[in-house]
Amino acid sequence: MSYPIKVSVKKGENYFWCSCGKSLNQPFCDGSHKTTLFQPLEYFSSKTEDIFFCVCKKTKSPPFCDGSHEQKLFKLLIEPDNKEIEISQDESILTASLRNNITHSSACGGNGKCSTCRVQIISGIKNCSNPNEIEKKISKKLSFPDDIRLACQTSILGDVRLKRLILDKRDLKSNNQTLSNKITSVGNIKNLTVMFCDIKGFTNFSESLSAYDVIFILNKYFSIMREIIIKNGGEINNYIGDAILAVFGMEENSQQVLRSVNAAILMIEAMDEFKKYLFMSYKQDFDLRIGIHYGEVIVGSVGEEKDKKITVIGDTVNIASRIEQINKDADTRLLVSEAAYEQIKTSVEINNYLRLKLRGSSKLFSLYEVNKIKKGSLKKYNFISKRIIKGKNWIKTIPISEINQKEKVKFKINESKELLIIRDGSFFVIENNCPHMNLPLDVGQLTALNSILCPYHNSEFCYKTGEVRKWIGSTTSSINKQKNLKTYKSLIHEDYLWVDGDI
Ligand code: FES
Ligand code: FES
Repeated sequence: MSYPIKVSVKKGENYFWCSCGKSLNQPFCDGSHKTTLFQPLEYFSSKTEDIFFCVCKKTKSPPFCDGSHEQKLFKLLIEPDNKEIEISQDESILTASLRNNITHSSACGGNGKCSTCRVQIISGIKNCSNPNEIEKKISKKLSFPDDIRLACQTSILGDVRLKRLILDKRDLKSNNQTLSNKITSVGNIKNLTVMFCDIKGFTNFSESLSAYDVIFILNKYFSIMREIIIKNGGEINNYIGDAILAVFGMEENSQQVLRSVNAAILMIEAMDEFKKYLFMSYKQDFDLRIGIHYGEVIVGSVGEEKDKKITVIGDTVNIASRIEQINKDADTRLLVSEAAYEQIKTSVEINNYLRLKLRGSSKLFSLYEVNKIKKGSLKKYNFISKRIIKGKNWIKTIPISEINQKEKVKFKINESKELLIIRDGSFFVIENNCPHMNLPLDVGQLTALNSILCPYHNSEFCYKTGEVRKWIGSTTSSINKQKNLKTYKSLIHEDYLWVDGDI
């Protein structure tokens, strides 16, 4: 069914009737894309009049009809313009909006690719058409909540009130998917487990050390803790000074609280080991404090271009941070909120619990000092995250926040040790293992000839191809016997470094 659109035309003007959604003067466009699938229909107006454009085929002179057949119109209230317009059931929200001279962003011309036409449906979501395949694809990619819709792909069957979301150039720049190769999340509510881990006594510890030592120790500490968090399916969301903010449940929901508590217990054990090293090397040590809470969190991308990253905000995050601080007065190292404890109480053993009011709240909270996970409670997980990107298999590795400003970063895929080398903005991944005595290569020096030198016996390897360039005694015959180091293709995607998954 189609309905006539009443339009005022002026004598002597040429019009192109089109559904491209490109022009502000809907249903007209400038006719510039004649050869595309929209095929604008040209019309010369011999007088100034009101006419009805329609595809009803009722008249002998299409695209016009006499406007006599009934058009079903609905009300569309658009915020923040505070404008009420009429929309027919055949029109997309974008077309109706542009036809009414609303400056509705549509960077891809209504093709469902840029997401800049996105709107939030305030009321009448039931009157909106179901998302089509084009919209489903981009909504999934951007984690749109159900009330965020693409105006170019949505039509309506009843009255709707909505809010345009991309209002100015700045919004357009940071939200146009056709300008970005990063997948972003526009904001979603998720039930996640949030872990805050802070260092106790670091200021005293660091006062007597050089700046080099402070950063060296911090990096070593972060690397140990990070490995445990990742192994338990958590993600480091942020490093805040010497504190770690980690979340569990982002991708794998099951046993997220139990996994976070398991990680915390292992982190405490690892800290005890690390303390021995600190004491041996620096004659002093520090400790850690961990707070865990479970609840609703807002997850979304913030920042622009290279700074863009996924962030988590909300009360759950603030409470996790306060719980971490309570360890100080309670003289504990790990405290878990009641909401988190409720999820795991049959699977853990506790040392003690306390009831208190958290800063800024009048409510009493119970906090639990968990010290053990009952045998057999935690399932076995393999948290290697694999994904097909651009038709190829890739394995998720380290977040780019850990790469910034560095020349070398070591990481693990399962139990195998790898080394990322960053040179002139390019990434090279090789195995972090000198084949001579299986010693780590990451402490080796990089050369101007794209190679890394093993610091132990001066073997040299090309980090682009893995080729052995020099082998201990450096004779040609011994080089020829050596196998090249393993190298991996890599790419940056969703704030992470991914390596070739077909390995
Ligand atoms: S206009 Fe680009 S997605 Fe709607
Ligand atoms: S360990 Fe690398 S050359 Fe000996």
